[in-house]
Amino acid sequence: MKNISVVGSGTMGNGIAHTFAQFGYQVSLVDISDNVLSKAIETIDKNLDRQVTKGVLSKAEKAATLANITVFTDLGQGVANADLVVEAASENLDLKLKLFKDLDALTRPGTILASNTSSISITRIAGITQRGDKVIGMHFMNPVPVMKLVEVIRGYDTSDETAAAITDLSEKLGKYPVEVNDYPGFVANRILMPMINEAIYTLYEGVAGVREIDGVMKLGMAHPMGPLQLADFIGLDVCLAILKVLHEGFGNPKYAPCPLLVNMVSAGNKGVKSGEGFYSYTAGSTEATVSRKFTGKL
Ligand code: CAA
Repeated sequence: MKNISVVGSGTMGNGIAHTFAQFGYQVSLVDISDNVLSKAIETIDKNLDRQVTKGVLSKAEKAATLANITVFTDLGQGVANADLVVEAASENLDLKLKLFKDLDALTRPGTILASNTSSISITRIAGITQRGDKVIGMHFMNPVPVMKLVEVIRGYDTSDETAAAITDLSEKLGKYPVEVNDYPGFVANRILMPMINEAIYTLYEGVAGVREIDGVMKLGMAHPMGPLQLADFIGLDVCLAILKVLHEGFGNPKYAPCPLLVNMVSAGNKGVKSGEGFYSYTAGSTEATVSRKFTGKL
């Protein structure tokens, strides 16, 4: 595999494009507008600078990485030469079904179609295409250039060849692929989201404050971020969407999203990306001060 198309240039999409390009792959990055794509390239540039500052990459390697990325607003042009397409659009089933139907028509028959979905069924997505054996989940973690895991999700019809190709490719990116089957939340979010939801319930019920809950998990369990800060980092809307998939998929009330999370998302407080969640963020920074909504409440 040499030519990789990444569809969607948000946080995950630009991180995925960055990582493939850094490891010498030709990347076509596709999104709906030039403006969105320029912002994605700016983010990649900034994140490459972090790696240069840390001595992970040289300036020449940074330039080569950027040169490996071409941007497209036309889906057909962006995926025409792809050996692999990694879809990283929003977590919306209808959007993903439409995209995979289009990708099935626009790519060569041998192209593998992967989704970076955090919880939508790969089998459901594969069902809209004529190539269920070549549809797979390739779930990266945020920040993609840093986190080692790739959750490789086998849909009902995914072939051994497709799974082996994605596992091998993940290793070539310096990642640690873990193969899992296609059930709600796969493995990562089936375990992570109930923990985040429980942390939100703990706040909602007044057991402890934001700093205290996060402090317990950071200092007591050596988590790099507490669950509330991590929820802000992932996006509260994304956390809610994943919990809904778990709740509906298993029909078990233990996955019911905390009403506080539902309210926050309804109010537009989505965490880092909206500037406000459990913490408040100033533009362009993930520096966190507890949101005024949650100070002095105990
Ligand atoms: N691109 C490149 N490098 C980056 C980066 C990026 N976007 N973000 C951070 N880095 C690098 C930094 O340069 C730094 O490099 P060194 O180790 O060489 O010094 C390193 O990552 C650590 O960054 P910082 O020093 O800035 O900050 P930190 O030590 O607080 O670490 C963090 C930041 C890596 C994000 C850390 O807080 C962490 O691991 N948080 C938890 C992340 C996590 O759990 N991610 C999974 C979320 S779930 C998900 O993504 C999937 C889903 O389906 C919901």
